[in-house]
Amino acid sequence: MSTATLDAAAGKTTSQSAVTPALEISQLQSWYGESHILHNVDLTVNKGEVVTLLGRNGAGRTTTLRSIMGLVGARRGSIKINGVETIAMPTYKIAHQAVGYCPEERGIFSSLSTEENLLLPPSVSKTDKGMSIEEIYDMFPNLKERRNSQGTRLSGGEQQMLAVARILRTGARLLLLDEISEGLAPVIVQTLARMITTLKAKGYTIVMVEQNFRFAAPLADRFYVMEHGQIVESFAAAELESKTQKLNELLGV
Ligand SMILES: Nc1ncnc2c1ncn2[C@@H]1O[C@H](COP(=O)(O)OP(=O)(O)OP(=O)(O)O)[C@@H](O)[C@H]1O
Ligand SMILES: [Mg+2]
Repeated sequence: MSTATLDAAAGKTTSQSAVTPALEISQLQSWYGESHILHNVDLTVNKGEVVTLLGRNGAGRTTTLRSIMGLVGARRGSIKINGVETIAMPTYKIAHQAVGYCPEERGIFSSLSTEENLLLPPSVSKTDKGMSIEEIYDMFPNLKERRNSQGTRLSGGEQQMLAVARILRTGARLLLLDEISEGLAPVIVQTLARMITTLKAKGYTIVMVEQNFRFAAPLADRFYVMEHGQIVESFAAAELESKTQKLNELLGV
C-alpha cells in the first residue's frame, strides 16, 4: 500500500472515531439457561473513556461484561463495537474486534512463569500489535522482578497485574475489567489506579466493574449503576457530588 493510501486510511479512521462509540449496547437482554438476567440494558462508551459499572452483588455487572464477550447462554439486542454489530458473533470473533476481557477469576496459567503467561496471548487487532514485553515491564516493574516466577507463586496483586498485562499484549483497545481492585492491599490498589490513568492517557477505552467506589471515583469519566439486571442510573464524573446520596441508597454503602 502506498503512503498516500495509508494516510487516507488513517484519516478515515480518525474522522470515524470522532463519532462512533467504542461500545454501544442497546436493549440488551441476556439469559443463563432459563434465567433471564439482563433486561434492556443500554450503555454507551466513547473512545478513550473510562466508564465504571456499579451495583450491589448480583446486580448483573459481570453478566454485562460476559454478554459483551458472548459468554452467556443467550443474548438479544444490539452490541456494537466500533460500530460493528457483534450480537451474533462467536466469542473469538468478538475478541478480534480488539476487545480484552479480564475476568474476576483472572485466569493465570499457574504452571507457567510470568513471562510465559505474557508470551502466550494471540493478537486480536489488525492495526495494533499490542504492548511489547518491555513496555509491560516498564509499566509493571513488579512483573519484571517476578518474570521467572511460576503463576501460583505470585501474590494476588501480581496475579491481577499479570491478568491485565496479558490482555494489553493482545493489542486490545477496549478493556473490560471485572473488579480488579477486589481483595487487594491499598498499595496494590494504588498501582492499579496509576495503571488505569496511564492506559487512559494512551487512549484505551475502559469499562470497569467495581465494588470499590473509592477506587473508581477519581478514575472514571462516567458511571452506570445496575440493579436487578437493569441500568437504573447514569451520570458523569462532574455530577458525582450531587449524586452521592442517591448512590449510597443504590449501593447500600
Ligand atoms: N452461570 C450462571 N447461571 C445462572 N445464573 C447466574 C450465573 N451467573 C450469575 N447468575 C445470576 O445472575 C445474576 C447477576 O449476576 P452477576 O454475576 O452478573 O452479578 P454482579 O453484579 O457481577 O455481582 P457480584 O459479582 O457481586 O456477584 C445473579 O442473580 C446471579 O445469581
Ligand atoms: Mg461480578
